[in-house]
Amino acid sequence: MSSMWGERIKLSVFGGSHTEAIGVTLDGLPAGEKMDWDEILVQMARRAPGQDPSATRRVEKDEPHVVCGMSSDGVLTGAPLCALIYNSDQHSKDYGNLKVTPRPGHADYAAFVKYQGNNDIRGGGHFSGRLTAPLVFAGAVCRQILSRHGILIGGHVLSVGPAEDRRFNMADIEPEILKSLSREYFPVLFPSIRQEMRRQIEEARLALDSLGGVVECAVTGLPTGMGNPMFGGVENLISSIVFGVPAVKGIEFGAGFQAARKMGHENNDSFYYDDGGAVKTRTNNAGGILGGITTGMPLVFRAAVKPTPSISREQDTVNLETGENVKLVIKGRHDPCIVPRAVPALESAAAVAVLELLAQNGKL
Ligand SMILES: Cc1cc2nc3c(=O)[nH]c(=O)nc-3n(C[C@H](O)[C@H](O)[C@H](O)COP(=O)(O)O)c2cc1C
Repeated sequence: MSSMWGERIKLSVFGGSHTEAIGVTLDGLPAGEKMDWDEILVQMARRAPGQDPSATRRVEKDEPHVVCGMSSDGVLTGAPLCALIYNSDQHSKDYGNLKVTPRPGHADYAAFVKYQGNNDIRGGGHFSGRLTAPLVFAGAVCRQILSRHGILIGGHVLSVGPAEDRRFNMADIEPEILKSLSREYFPVLFPSIRQEMRRQIEEARLALDSLGGVVECAVTGLPTGMGNPMFGGVENLISSIVFGVPAVKGIEFGAGFQAARKMGHENNDSFYYDDGGAVKTRTNNAGGILGGITTGMPLVFRAAVKPTPSISREQDTVNLETGENVKLVIKGRHDPCIVPRAVPALESAAAVAVLELLAQNGKL
């Protein structure tokens, strides 16, 4: 399995949903950075399960235990940083039948073939959304370093099923907005939409079904001129880690797929000098990236999150032992909608990628 990422900031995520612990190692972090532990816990709590009707009822505290790389007073030592998160609320018997009757939409069948049935199926094993907890720990560390470089990251639930929040004003994103979004569970820009999104999720759950949606994420304060053309672009870098978040099926930057429907004069972002003499653009359809290189405008991406594959209604599958077509009823506790809990995971993926970008460009 490849659960490692990065050239300069090397990330490794390990464990499974029902193993004793899950965890992360981050190599390449700058020494001497003091971490605010409470801020790390804020981020872990945003992703933790069991705190909202829109999420799985599995209850995990998700408290990270640092093994090495951080002093007792929270200063990074420069050695690899390793943290463990113990699993405590497992119901492994709910997953016994899935080894031979794979869940439609989940990784069970593909993994069964690839690993000849040796993969850990309990709770989805290494394919579980639970593996985003170590990613959020890594992101919480990286975003504290980034904030000292004036770089902020925040995201919100842009849509759940048919319910839509408003989009970021990509040319002008207030730091205060990102600061408050990045501390919230189920962050939205237009507060009253949250209620409607929750209603949609509950309706799906009662129908023994699930819902997907879109997360919009922004990064401000990026230095201009970072990244490379073609295969080394900022879009490439961010996409490669964003697709490490399970259930993400698409990503777009700036105007994204809407750009394909615009005329050139509508899509081009006109340049101007601001009062301080900095080059800015009046619009930001580019989402802060041109030619794979940062423009200094906010970097904005949207990630499409599919509906949770494990749904309670009866589905068709196969029995890989008997060779028959069979019916499947999935047990266990599942998120009726992954989207709210995916927000901190996607912000964290962006934080690790941006720290890597700074390191690659000699800015760390
Ligand atoms: C935060 C989070 C929570 C998730 N919770 C569940 C869940 O409760 N049940 C489930 O079947 N899938 C859940 N998933 C999604 C699966 O892990 C994912 O769909 C599966 O590994 C297959 O990978 P793919 O969808 O990327 O192809 C979750 C994903 C994330 C990011």
